[in-house]
Amino acid sequence: MADIAPSLLSANFANLHEEIMKIEDGGADYLHLDVMDGVFVPNITFGPPVIKSLRKITSMPFDVHLMIDKPERYIKDFVDAGANILTIHPEATIHLHRTIQEIKSYGIRAGVSLNPTTSLNTIEYILDDIDLILIMTVNPGFGGQSFIESMISKIVKTREMIDKRGLKILLEVDGGVKLDNALQLSNLGVDILVAGSAIFGADDIKKKTTDFKNLFV
Ligand code: DX5
Ligand code: ZN
Repeated sequence: MADIAPSLLSANFANLHEEIMKIEDGGADYLHLDVMDGVFVPNITFGPPVIKSLRKITSMPFDVHLMIDKPERYIKDFVDAGANILTIHPEATIHLHRTIQEIKSYGIRAGVSLNPTTSLNTIEYILDDIDLILIMTVNPGFGGQSFIESMISKIVKTREMIDKRGLKILLEVDGGVKLDNALQLSNLGVDILVAGSAIFGADDIKKKTTDFKNLFV
């Protein structure tokens, strides 16, 4: 059974406090925070000051997904803001190993996220150092896109790779996750499901969060 990480990207930004309380009441396991810089992805969201403010209103673990160029410039800022998991893209940093070591040096969990066309081989030599793999099932940048079906085989291969090596790496999937594909993804061995528009776009955010959780009871 997968944990649920609602993505704040699809929330009402004028009402963040109230909307976060709704997913917390609904039983969400993480808050997924999509940081975009307008360079690595064609969209801009928010950065450390907003995350730091939100840290004061909830104790939910913060799953921070950095879609920014050269993330090594800001690792400490996001740690200080309250990130519990910091996930970076290998496409955005030249020295992936060094950046991962820096994240871990602060005592939080380090993740690597792969764009849909980035090969799993990219992370072959860093598997012993990471805590989480985030498979993008849409092209990063926007909420509300359709799940790319060809990513199913990538998810299966990632699960096999983790298990074959006997590692405890969490497998997370992000993009196009809805109530009607969540169970299938969980059955493939996904540990964390990110859901943005499916949850924050719902009329009843708390109920929708609970509906996701109830898939696995
Ligand atoms: C996309 C983000 C996702 C996004 C998912 O770049 O990384 O976290 O919020 O949104 P949905 O669930 O609507 O596809
Ligand atoms: Zn994300």
